[in-house]
Amino acid sequence: LDNGMARTPPMGWLSWQRFRCNTDCVNDPHHCISESLFMQMADIIVNEGYRDLGYQLVSVDDCWLSRERDARGRLQADPHRFPSGIPALSDYMHKRGLSFGIYEDYGNYTCAGYPGILGHLEIDAFTFAEWGVDYVKLDGCYSHPTDMDRGYPLFGYYLNQTLRPMVYSCSWPVYQTYSGLTDCNTDTLESMNIAKRSTAALPNQYITVEYLTPWLCCAGYPEFGYFLNKTGRPMVYSCSWPFYQILTRMQPNYTSIINTCNLWRNFDDIQDSWESVQRIIDYYGDNQQVIVPNAGPGHWNDPDMLIIGNFGLSYEQSKSQMAMWAIFAAPLLMSVDLRTIRPEFKAILQNKGVIGVNQDPLGIQGKRIYKDKGIEIWARPITPVFQGHYSYAIAFLNRRTDGTPSEVSVTLRELGLAYPNGYGITDLFDGVHYGTVLPDKRFKVDVNPSGVVLVRCEVIKGSAGAARFREQPQ
Ligand code: DGJ
Repeated sequence: LDNGMARTPPMGWLSWQRFRCNTDCVNDPHHCISESLFMQMADIIVNEGYRDLGYQLVSVDDCWLSRERDARGRLQADPHRFPSGIPALSDYMHKRGLSFGIYEDYGNYTCAGYPGILGHLEIDAFTFAEWGVDYVKLDGCYSHPTDMDRGYPLFGYYLNQTLRPMVYSCSWPVYQTYSGLTDCNTDTLESMNIAKRSTAALPNQYITVEYLTPWLCCAGYPEFGYFLNKTGRPMVYSCSWPFYQILTRMQPNYTSIINTCNLWRNFDDIQDSWESVQRIIDYYGDNQQVIVPNAGPGHWNDPDMLIIGNFGLSYEQSKSQMAMWAIFAAPLLMSVDLRTIRPEFKAILQNKGVIGVNQDPLGIQGKRIYKDKGIEIWARPITPVFQGHYSYAIAFLNRRTDGTPSEVSVTLRELGLAYPNGYGITDLFDGVHYGTVLPDKRFKVDVNPSGVVLVRCEVIKGSAGAARFREQPQ
């Protein structure tokens, strides 16, 4: 979504994976979903250096709401757990240089059964803006996946699926204009890449779609996006839309998703285990032809939260998640108890070199370029770019469990890095500089079981660049 937001993947803290829907503040006051939990996390994010490394968002997930809307139909927070109210919580974040995120659902209920936004799209968007919300995560429980992008874009999507080129002539804007809905997401209209009118078309290639109720012209996630935009307050828009469609075997219309959302989930919820992290990595590798081209500044694939520092990942596995999320250009949304996180996990989350790869301004998502016998190599093009040659982040991932590190030996040329002056290589976890490596020189790394080696390979810009890296010993 080109709303000026999320030009690099969002970074921050989200409650769901670690604290779920714990609403029992009587028996478990330190872990329940309450304003004090978010305030405590915000304090740590500021005081312990997370904010200054880029983790600027603190976002509420499900279970913050009261079971009922107020007398005016507006959403309200649970009064016992959020006694100061959401505007005060949002202020708390802003005063500390943080941004504030909230959760809702494009359905009748949220997944945990609290009121959803259906029937209240406009009022809820304006309520969020009034409360100073900077980021909205919109889940998709209790709504039908085909309702998530109804209207002209959906029909255009099906026309496209037929593989027969047809001119698609839409009366969409006309009916919206009649009802005062100017420019309801005309971007999406343009993005269908199907001419609105063409005299050159054969009669049987020309389809006119006339009337739909104006709202249905862009119903679903785009409609809520329209209202968010209409508030005039810039808000990052995080969508679960493709995930729920994929669950029901629909193919998401990514053109429309890119135009509507700043980030979107496309796979299962992360759980606190290495198995779950590996399933996500496999999904991203197996579907990379479809999903990788969709990522870029302002629009990101979201493989879900970072679980580093919780119970399910070892130290090696935690580095693997951090490295892979950097390769994926993924949002870095920690979901961990920052009050009790162990220092070695905190160091992984605060690794500047890895964050630098994640936040690379080109915003190109990386791909799996090798997979055999439990060893995978992933590559992400990054800056600096010199004479048309990208620099790269390369992740060597060891999925084996045989208890001993595996040696991986490659030439950069085999990985597609062919700049003749070579690349300055740095290991981002242990900080070792490998010096300048020419494309045909063999390069070796030892990768621990369920671990990763993440290196940054920078194109050497002439002799000045070369001086920054000492020569690799023969
Ligand atoms: C499903 C989402 O995918 C999760 O991230 C979380 O927001 C839960 N719903 C909350 O109910």
